[in-house]
Amino acid sequence: MSGSDAPATNAYWGRGGLEEKILDALAAAGKNVDALTIDDLAPADQFHGGGKGATERLARLAGLKPGTRVLDVGGGLGGPARTLAGQFGCRVTVVDLTEAYVRTGAALTARLGLADGVTHRVGDALALDVGAEPFDVLWTQNSGMNIADKERLYAGFARVLRPGGLLVIQEPMAGPVQPVVFPVMWARDARASFLRAPDAMRALIEAAGFQARAWEDVTDEIAGPGSAAAIPAHSVQRIIMGEALDAIVRAGQQNRAERRIVMTQAVLERRAAPASAPPPRTSG
Ligand SMILES: C[S@@+](CC[C@H](N)C(=O)[O-])C[C@H]1O[C@@H](n2cnc3c(N)ncnc32)[C@H](O)[C@@H]1O
Repeated sequence: MSGSDAPATNAYWGRGGLEEKILDALAAAGKNVDALTIDDLAPADQFHGGGKGATERLARLAGLKPGTRVLDVGGGLGGPARTLAGQFGCRVTVVDLTEAYVRTGAALTARLGLADGVTHRVGDALALDVGAEPFDVLWTQNSGMNIADKERLYAGFARVLRPGGLLVIQEPMAGPVQPVVFPVMWARDARASFLRAPDAMRALIEAAGFQARAWEDVTDEIAGPGSAAAIPAHSVQRIIMGEALDAIVRAGQQNRAERRIVMTQAVLERRAAPASAPPPRTSG
């Protein structure tokens, strides 16, 4: 079965010399790159609205405990994964289709001495190949926006989670006002952006075998910066998007203010049996 368009994904998200660019930007911001902490790195490796604070919020919403086995799908440079390992004691496998992120993420994880808790692999969210042992948690933050076939995406998430395991998501979704104004962080135009409304998302995820424990609109709480000028040079958004970021931030403000895009954080439990399975027979 075919998966995502890996060359297109790598062309859009990937950048050469990324580790060096990140370290240079952090050094210029006054960080000691030979003794980096999770917090030092956070502006440069948490690639989603709300930054590290949003990751911590989501981890608390899910009630993550030490020892939890987490699969972070579309985990990018690994900022969220290192937070889950370093602050919440989780053991995290990061899968991402962008090879430069996987390489750079692994180097940053080693630099922070977290290689025992975080591993990085190239992989496609639509064709997860992560071994036979199911995970306790499937974590995914701002990573499904380029993926049209969301039914297949969430069915695949259910497949790699143990029954009772948690699907933990932060995801931009289509707001009540349409269309989306472009460019957005994940797409220059509508051809690469696939958002659905929160109600439709919740229905399709539940149909894939999940039951919602928490479903929260966090659009206002984790709003992005007021202006592009407020985004520092060592932020991942600036490092990856360069000058294109200014138009992205302007469109982002309009999309948020006019409710064209909303942000959801949610925790859903994988049901013991797929939602479509018939109820068990009772005897007697
Ligand atoms: C905005 S970044 C978010 C990265 C990370 N989740 C974070 O919050 O820091 C979106 C990520 O989704 C990844 N991605 C997009 N499509 C993917 C796919 N089909 N399979 C795996 N990763 C994908 C990109 O490579 C990129 O790293």
